[in-house]
Amino acid sequence: MRIDVLTLFPEMFSPLDSSLMGKARQKGLFELYCHNVRDYSADKHKKCDDAPFGGGAGMVMMPQPIHDCIMTVDPLHEAKRIYLSPRGKVFNQQMAKQLSQESRLLFLCGHYEGVDQRVLDMDVDEEISIGDYVLSGGELAAMVVADCVLRYVPQVLGNSQSTEEESFSSGLLEYPQYTRPQNFLGMQVPEVLVSGNHKSIDDWRREQSLKITARNRPDLLEEK
Ligand code: ADE
Repeated sequence: MRIDVLTLFPEMFSPLDSSLMGKARQKGLFELYCHNVRDYSADKHKKCDDAPFGGGAGMVMMPQPIHDCIMTVDPLHEAKRIYLSPRGKVFNQQMAKQLSQESRLLFLCGHYEGVDQRVLDMDVDEEISIGDYVLSGGELAAMVVADCVLRYVPQVLGNSQSTEEESFSSGLLEYPQYTRPQNFLGMQVPEVLVSGNHKSIDDWRREQSLKITARNRPDLLEEK
């Protein structure tokens, strides 16, 4: 998979060089290219934003630098082009799985009060929000979506990790996990987990998943 990010702050994307995603990128399991929208501004001062027509607070990102950047990075429209914005469709695990089927993704990160609507109408396929709150820009949202999508790209997760058993995959939240030592500061690991009885372990985990989901996310149970 190839990901192109269009942003005014390319230096924000270093988190994708660490941990699991850093290793996957080094192994060539995905490519990430960050493009500074400012480099595409035709203005002599490299201006990228201006006041909104109709008035109002804040600045709006101008269409020209964004359009020219998109035309350079993805001239044949091979990428699924996504604008990160709080008014987009709310991102979830299902959308991550679907996006992981694409060979190319392009993320447009907005700043200030948003992006001129004409460039969105002309050049963008989808608007995605990562939740009902407002960030200062689309960069953190793009990283959240990229991380979540890339976990479905073959070999990004070693075989030690699985996307099947974790929260949301089954429609339930994940059961509690324990590791050594069996006694930590007097707190014991639940007996059933050291019983060797796989049926009992599966039953206990399912029961715990249901309890945690009912307590923290009853809406997930209503959907089923
Ligand atoms: N930009 C600002 N807030 C956002 C959000 N919640 N999701 C995606 N992009 C954003």
